[in-house]
Amino acid sequence: MSKLRCVAITLLLLLVLPTAFAQKRETDAAGHAWWQHAVFYEIYPRSFADSNGDGIGDLNGITSRLDYLRELGVDAIWLTPCYPSPQVDFGYDVSDYQNIDPMYGTLKDFDDLAKTARKRKIRIIMDFVLNHTSDQHKWFQASRSSRTSPFRDWYVWRDGKGPGQPPNNWISVFGGSAWKLDPATEQYYYHMFYPEQPDLNWRNPAVKQAMFDVTRWWYKRGVAGFRLDAVNTLFEDPQLRDNPELGEKNAYGDTEQKTVYNSDLPEVHTILQELRKVADESDAVLIGETWTEDAEQLRAYYGPSHNELQLPMDFMFTMINKLSPPDFRKQIASAEASGGWPVYVISNHDIRRSYDRYGDGKNNDAIAKLLAGLYLTLRGTPIMYYGEEIGMENNDPARIQDVQDPIGKKGWPEEKGRDGERTPMQWNASPNAGFTPGRPWLPVPASYKTRNVESERADPNSILNFYKKLLALRRKSPALLDGTYLPLNPQDPHVLAYLRQSAGGSVLVVLNMSTTSQKASFDLSAQGLGATATPLLTSLSTGPGTFSLQEMELAPLGAYILQVGK
Ligand code: GLC
Ligand code: CA
Repeated sequence: MSKLRCVAITLLLLLVLPTAFAQKRETDAAGHAWWQHAVFYEIYPRSFADSNGDGIGDLNGITSRLDYLRELGVDAIWLTPCYPSPQVDFGYDVSDYQNIDPMYGTLKDFDDLAKTARKRKIRIIMDFVLNHTSDQHKWFQASRSSRTSPFRDWYVWRDGKGPGQPPNNWISVFGGSAWKLDPATEQYYYHMFYPEQPDLNWRNPAVKQAMFDVTRWWYKRGVAGFRLDAVNTLFEDPQLRDNPELGEKNAYGDTEQKTVYNSDLPEVHTILQELRKVADESDAVLIGETWTEDAEQLRAYYGPSHNELQLPMDFMFTMINKLSPPDFRKQIASAEASGGWPVYVISNHDIRRSYDRYGDGKNNDAIAKLLAGLYLTLRGTPIMYYGEEIGMENNDPARIQDVQDPIGKKGWPEEKGRDGERTPMQWNASPNAGFTPGRPWLPVPASYKTRNVESERADPNSILNFYKKLLALRRKSPALLDGTYLPLNPQDPHVLAYLRQSAGGSVLVVLNMSTTSQKASFDLSAQGLGATATPLLTSLSTGPGTFSLQEMELAPLGAYILQVGK
C-alpha cells in the first residue's frame, strides 16, 4: 500500500470511528432531546420501599414499585445517593463511587432495577456527589496518612494561621469552621459540609480524571445521567482569602458570610464543560443542584454555547412560600429569560414539602392540585419529589431526641433538620403505610391512614388521580410539551394565566390562586384564536362544557387547563 493511501485510510478511520461509536442522540421530529419531554421523579431510596424489613428502603423496593411509577407517568427517576457510605449525611458522604451500599442492596440489584426500568421505559439518574467524599473513602484515608502521600493533593490541606487558628474564616454550611485540624499530619483540611465530608481538590488533574471515569463507568451500566450535588462549591480561592462577614448569626451560632471565595468560582464552568463532553458520549443528561438568584446566574450554568448543564435546577419556586401570582410570574419570566430549557422544582429532600409550604391548613388538597397545574404545564422539564403526587405532608420531629439529621441536632430548635420531608412513602393504610414490615427509620404521619397511594387510587378526585390525568395529558399535548409560553393578564393579583402554543394546538392554563371566586377575561385574537375554550382538565369535579373567554368564572383555587380553537 502506498504511503499516501495508508495515510488517507487512517484519516478516514479517525473521522468515521468516533461517530460510529458515539451514542446516537435520541430526538423527536422537532429536534428535542429525550430529557426535554421527560418528567423526572426524585426518589430518596431510604424512604421509598423497604423489601427486607430492616426499616430502610432499598433498591429491590424501588424495583417492586416501578409499575406504580409507570402508571403515574414518569419517565426518569433520580436516586439520591445509594453508594457505600458511613451515612453521616445519609449517603451524601460517599466512601466508594462504584458500588451500592449493602443497606440498599448490591450492584446486581442495581442491574435488575435498571433492566426492569428499561422495560418500562423509565431512565435512571444517579446522584453524583462531586464536591466531597466521605472521610472513610480510600482516597482520603491515603491523603491524611502523610504530607507526602501521592493522594495528599487530592484534598485541600493547609497550615493554620497560627496555633489553634484555622487557615481562614470560612464556615461550613452545616455549622462551625470549615477547617478541621488532623492531628496525624498537623494540617487542616477543608470541608464545606460536615467534617466527615472533606472537599476534593478539583485543581488536581488526577481528581478530575478519576471522577470523570466514575461517570463513564455508570453510563456503561445504563445510567442516563447525573444530578450533580452542590456543584457551585467545587472550587476555592487559591489564596484562601477571608469571606466578608454579614453580621447576622445563623441557626448554628456562626456569623453569616458572603461566600465569595468558596462558592460559584468561575472554574466550576470549565469542569462542567468537560463533564458535559463525557455525558454527550452517552446521550446523558446533567442536572445541577444550582442555587441561582436570577436569570443571569442561571444562564451561566447552561454554558456559553449550551455546553454545560442541560438542566440546571431552578430553585426559585422553592423560595416562594405563598400562592402569589406576581411572584410566580416573575420567577417564570426569569427562567424563560435565562435562554435555556427551564427546569421546575417545588420541593426536594432538603426543602419543606410543597403541601405544607403552600397549604393554608384548610384547602391543602385544592392547593396541591393547583401547584401541579402550574409546574407540570410550564415550558420546561419538571422534577417531582416522591409523595408530592399524593400530597404528602412534612412530618417534623417533635423532640430533639427523635432527630436523625445531624443538622437538626445541631441547630435545634431553630433548625429541625430535614427528617420531616424525608419520611417513608405512604403506600396504603396498613401499619407504617405499607413502607416496611419492620420499624421505619423515620415515622409516617398519622394522616397516612387516608393519605396513601391505595386510597387515593380509589378516589376519582384525589391529588393522585389529578397528577395521573395531568401527566397523561402532558405526554400527548404538543402545546404542553414544546409550545411557547405567553404570560397573560400580567396585572391580575389573584389569577395566574398563560398560553402554551405550538403548531399542534393551543392550551390555556388559568390558575385561580385565591380562595374566593374570580372573574377573568382573555382576548387571544392576536394569537389567531377564538373566544371559547373547552376543558382538557380542571381540578374541579364538575364544570361547564365550554368556557367563554370574555368572561370566565373561576372557582376558588380552581385550576383550568383548556384547549382553545381558532
Ligand atoms: C446537597 C444535598 C444535601 C446534602 C449536601 C451535601 O445540598 O442535596 O442533601 O446534605 O448537598 O452533600
Ligand atoms: Ca431494607
